[in-house]
Amino acid sequence: MFGDKILQYNFPTTVRFGAGSSGELGDYLAKNRLSHPLIVTDPIVSQLPFFKKIISELGRKNISAEVFSDIHKNPVKSDVYKGTEQYDATHRDSIVGIGGGAALDVARAIVLRVNHREDLFKYDDLIGGDIYVTNDTPHFVTIPTTAGTGSEVGRSAIIADDETHQKKILFSPKLLAKIIFADPLLTMELPSFVTAATGMDALTHNMEAYLVNMVHPMCDGIALEGISLIHQSLEKAVNKPDLESRSKMLIASLMGAVAFQKGLGVVHSLAHPLSSLLDTHHGLANAVNIPYGMEFNIEGSEHKFKRMAQVLELKDQEGAAVVKYLFALNDKINIPHHLKDIGVKEEHIETLASLAIEDFAHPNNPRPVSREHFRELYLKAL
Ligand SMILES: NC(=O)c1ccc[n+]([C@@H]2O[C@H](COP(=O)([O-])OP(=O)(O)OC[C@H]3O[C@@H](n4cnc5c(N)ncnc54)[C@H](O)[C@@H]3O)[C@@H](O)[C@H]2O)c1
Ligand SMILES: [Fe+2]
Repeated sequence: MFGDKILQYNFPTTVRFGAGSSGELGDYLAKNRLSHPLIVTDPIVSQLPFFKKIISELGRKNISAEVFSDIHKNPVKSDVYKGTEQYDATHRDSIVGIGGGAALDVARAIVLRVNHREDLFKYDDLIGGDIYVTNDTPHFVTIPTTAGTGSEVGRSAIIADDETHQKKILFSPKLLAKIIFADPLLTMELPSFVTAATGMDALTHNMEAYLVNMVHPMCDGIALEGISLIHQSLEKAVNKPDLESRSKMLIASLMGAVAFQKGLGVVHSLAHPLSSLLDTHHGLANAVNIPYGMEFNIEGSEHKFKRMAQVLELKDQEGAAVVKYLFALNDKINIPHHLKDIGVKEEHIETLASLAIEDFAHPNNPRPVSREHFRELYLKAL
């Protein structure tokens, strides 16, 4: 059965995948002569039994683990500054991110900040700031506890401004983890709502990456297999989780993040403003918007929708069938069909459309998206 044995992949970095792999952390750190890791997580994960077990096992191996968990649901710059202060004050030698996308993004941003002390947003990739990421970075390890963002395998961190809530992207190949311990057992107790929302984020990554108009057969192959794995396992992981469905979701989420090196698209640009303006969870925002965004994308990408329909084992291979599938999947995992059910009101739409057109994801969308399109899509989804 997939997931019950620990396997090693060396792509795109070292991945130790399988039940129990997180138990290898202590030996790995010791082997690399690291004894003072800063463990970055969020306030909820820091209280979970598996997290406490990881910390106590490190103690048994004489590793001094310092935990930093004071982060926001949608991470902001001051979270990164606080974590770096703790890194300095407690003389750390490495960083281990354990958690969902939020914790892993903060961990990665601290990795950047340790030896890059200009204003954090000077390194914003959207203004070409990646060229300033020139110094060494501390040894970085990630352990995902959700199956959605694939942030464990990413080279970027999404951090918002404390005041404006505008999201910035910190990017550098130096921010890729040296090793990932992807342990599906850590996701076994993930609440069904988080499983559903994060799983739809992973599906959105794979679908949007596949649709980006760039000839990249490697990423396309990964994205299509990612879509297939999610088709096989998301409903089960939400409603009747077992090790196999959790394992397939965990690898599919990692694959989505590899595939979206190609870029993302309209769905992420619809979703990001919901997190900035209304603090909506990233995955939930994608989940509600994906059927509408994919419907918008059919025109001009009919051949790619046919491939996706095949992977989803649909009889009808028109784009409309993929859209119908997405609504039906949302039904099965209790995601609402409409934005009004997740707190969006008609009066928000103009602001949302203005934020969406400024977003970084849609310039890669196969069909160009205007502000008016965003307005129409939000109104349709409302
Ligand atoms: N870096 C990237 O490439 C990238 C891509 C997409 C999204 N993101 C970012 O990722 C964030 C969203 O990440 P996410 O969807 O993983 O959500 P999350 O990190 O916010 O976690 C969702 C919730 O689940 C809880 N949780 C995590 N693991 C758990 C477990 N094993 N058991 C029980 N509860 C658990 C968390 O405490 C949190 O309350 C956003 O900040 C988004 O901007 C980053
Ligand atoms: Fe995402």
